[in-house]
Amino acid sequence: MNDPKRITITAALPYTNGPVHIGHLAGVYVPADIYARYQRLVGMDVAFVCGSDEHGVPITIKAKKEGISPQEVVDKYHEIIKNSFEEFGITFDNYSRTSAKIHHDTASRFFKKLYDDGKFVEEVTEQLYDDEAKQFLADRFVVGTCPKCGYEESYGDQCENCGTSHNATDLINPKSAISGAKPVKKETKHWFLPLDQYEDWLKEWILIGHKKDWKTNVYGQCKSWIDDGLRPRAVTRDLDWGIPVPVEGAEGKVLYVWFDAPIGYISSTREWAEREGKDWEPYWKSEDTKLLHFIGKDNIVFHCIIFPAMLKAEGSYIVPDNVPANEFLNLEGNKISTSKNWAVWLHEYLQEFPGQQDVLRYVLTANAPETKDNDFTWADFQARNNNELVAIFGNFINRVVVLTNKYYDGETPQPAEFTTIDGETLDELRAAPEVIASSIERYRFREAQTKLMDVARLGNKYLADEEPWKTIKTDEARTKTVMYVALQIAAALAVLSEPFLPHTSAKLNRILGNTESVPPTKWKDVSEKKELITPGHHIGKGELLFSKIEDEKIQEQLAKLEASKKENKAMNATAEPQKDEITFDDFTKLDMRVGTIISAEKMPKTKKLLVLQVDTGIDKRTIVSGIAESFTAEEVVGKRVTVLVNLAPRALRGVESEGMILMTETPVGKLVFVNPDDDVPNGVKIS
Ligand code: MF3
Ligand code: ZN
Repeated sequence: MNDPKRITITAALPYTNGPVHIGHLAGVYVPADIYARYQRLVGMDVAFVCGSDEHGVPITIKAKKEGISPQEVVDKYHEIIKNSFEEFGITFDNYSRTSAKIHHDTASRFFKKLYDDGKFVEEVTEQLYDDEAKQFLADRFVVGTCPKCGYEESYGDQCENCGTSHNATDLINPKSAISGAKPVKKETKHWFLPLDQYEDWLKEWILIGHKKDWKTNVYGQCKSWIDDGLRPRAVTRDLDWGIPVPVEGAEGKVLYVWFDAPIGYISSTREWAEREGKDWEPYWKSEDTKLLHFIGKDNIVFHCIIFPAMLKAEGSYIVPDNVPANEFLNLEGNKISTSKNWAVWLHEYLQEFPGQQDVLRYVLTANAPETKDNDFTWADFQARNNNELVAIFGNFINRVVVLTNKYYDGETPQPAEFTTIDGETLDELRAAPEVIASSIERYRFREAQTKLMDVARLGNKYLADEEPWKTIKTDEARTKTVMYVALQIAAALAVLSEPFLPHTSAKLNRILGNTESVPPTKWKDVSEKKELITPGHHIGKGELLFSKIEDEKIQEQLAKLEASKKENKAMNATAEPQKDEITFDDFTKLDMRVGTIISAEKMPKTKKLLVLQVDTGIDKRTIVSGIAESFTAEEVVGKRVTVLVNLAPRALRGVESEGMILMTETPVGKLVFVNPDDDVPNGVKIS
């Protein structure tokens, strides 16, 4: 689109069933924020909106699992998500939530308009029903085999393996995710959006209109969808969590989460406009507005087919100009997973790496899964910080600031004659905003950030070649010119880095002494202004822009991941099958007593065995126990235990063991005592 008047930027509303992780950041929020910040810097009128996606089955499932209400789930995560985005520096103009009244109103009205205009098909169909849980099974409440790719764990509305979105009744061998039961079919009425009626329009709009400017992954998915033929999609559900369907005869039904959530972009824009005293409508309805959806690849069909069809059906809205969807980010070679805790959580990162938001932003952009899935590793995180941010960007700024303070007391020197090198360097600098912008405008953020780093590289090379630390002894005028040029590069970096590294940019402005009276450079100044820092201007004190990340810090993170791997393994280990049946008499043969360990020592030359003296209430006896890998001898003295006292004695390494201490094991393999409450005296029977 040429010369839009304003840009509406949306970032996928995160599901509020867990916090935000690096996969979300790399795929959606960091690129969207770079884009929004850049557009603001060049003076564009921007509305950058997002909010929490608080409906949908995943939230109900999470609530069931934790034994709390769905509202409690979304309240908890909405807070965490909102705060961590803010601290990370994602500059949404508004972050709303789909439980907000303004959203319920906006979404209900939208539905009602389509309903009144006869855009829906109303139909009673057979849907999957869990007869045990007495509930219809839609979306994530049902799993089964994907009809397209054969993946056995596909959800009712979407297969996570091949990305296909389908109807729950399409699943082969469906199973209830609530009870595990095989669903039955039961009739129910729903409203369908007849996507088939939008096929021609979609073909025209995407397949012909956007063939060239949409990313190949996005275009490809749309094409395959349209080529497969579109079918009507139910936009209502038989659930009790969501926005009630606002028409008569729809009691107990709510809007499908993928119907209400994208309307959340509109509600969020309205909320923002109301607060700012603006009119929201041009941001969604004016032809000179550029609408962009930043999303992950699993959301493509919803943003390129279904939501546009909804907007088109409503009639007064514009449709997106582009949908720059990213692929997925993996973590240390494995798929990021909320339920498996295989993730780097934003709120935890912010606590563990205080003040280092930009390092993560930088690494996620450098590794952004723009055209294919990519891998985040902590080793790469450390290397990029130490070898790029510290060694290139930080090092250049540090040299400029230290030398300016040392030679000129922080005052920008008056340059003398410019050499060819100076001229070429300044020319390259003036070209940089255009070069970076061109990549940003084409949603190539990795490339854009590389070009930004090239400016820092240019500065480093210039200093290394011109060696002001040498010329200071021989040629004062030359040194002044070199430092003047280097300061121009530093000033340019302060503005050009802002979309990518906003916290660094702010620091750099401080270091360079840019204040309200000496306003920071503007994006276009770098190309258009002859001088970004004028002779005589005093720069501020040096501050370290970046600091080295030590191995220890990285080890801590790897250990954390290792722990969740272990925990997962343990959680997935299914309980052992029940043993053969015994009689009551069999049971009463076991004589178990409460006892106390009174002394303990390691059995020499063994790893596992402790020799214990146990007070059983009947006597004091020796028991050899294989617990030395979980406890030291000192630790167990005084422990209350349960002892099987009538087990036939047996010799272990020559020591007679007279009984057995009952133990169990935590998921990660640590042994624990099965111990009675403290006020039960030794010798009491367990029965
Ligand atoms: N909550 C969805 C997800 O995390 C995204 C919703 S985007 C919106 O995959 F368009 F529906 F808002
Ligand atoms: Zn599939």
